[in-house]
Amino acid sequence: MSLTSPVTDANAPLFSPDLVSPEVAAQLPEGYQCRPLRRSDYHDGFLDVLRVLTTVGDVTEEQWDERYEWISHRNDEYFLLCITDSASRIVGTGALIVERKFIHNLGLVGHIEDIAVAKDQQGKKLGLRVIQALDFVAEKVGCYKSILDCSEANEGFYVKCGFKRAGLEMAHYY
Ligand code: ACO
Repeated sequence: MSLTSPVTDANAPLFSPDLVSPEVAAQLPEGYQCRPLRRSDYHDGFLDVLRVLTTVGDVTEEQWDERYEWISHRNDEYFLLCITDSASRIVGTGALIVERKFIHNLGLVGHIEDIAVAKDQQGKKLGLRVIQALDFVAEKVGCYKSILDCSEANEGFYVKCGFKRAGLEMAHYY
């Protein structure tokens, strides 16, 4: 199968909407939604929200489609979700990547990555809702823990989300 010709419906959810926490959905501001990523989100501001986190680069729609297809073939491992506002614009996002181990009785570990809330939407508990939504997915799919790396500046946010400092992050850049 060619990875450059998308096979999925552009509006199909990346993973089952049953994995979206009903509690999180109920606690969002009026008109806001929490839902799995979809291929059409290239046009809904997904990459712009990620730009509050770091450099994204100039990703063409073709490149997006190719990466989306790769991820969608691993949708028991990659769980990317979005929060949209009442105008259906993406205002928050986060990802859970599920690692399958041999240790801990073939344990599953969730890796929380790429959490971002649009600048003009910060401070409305949307970041908290993203984390709660990812925690819900992690528990549902059987992870025994979730871990993440963050800057000192964000430690307080993750503490408010129920995380605690554990270990030390190290990196080797290539
Ligand atoms: N330090 C301490 N407390 C914080 C911080 C912070 N940096 N940010 C938020 N909080 C607190 C809030 O005051 C709130 O506390 P309260 O319950 O007492 O009112 C609580 O945490 C929840 O805050 P939210 O309103 O949910 O936070 P927000 O929606 O603004 O999202 C986020 C926080 C995701 C860090 C946002 O500011 C953002 O997108 N920042 C830029 C990108 C970024 O740094 N992302 C995280 C990278 S780490 C990773 O991806 C694993």
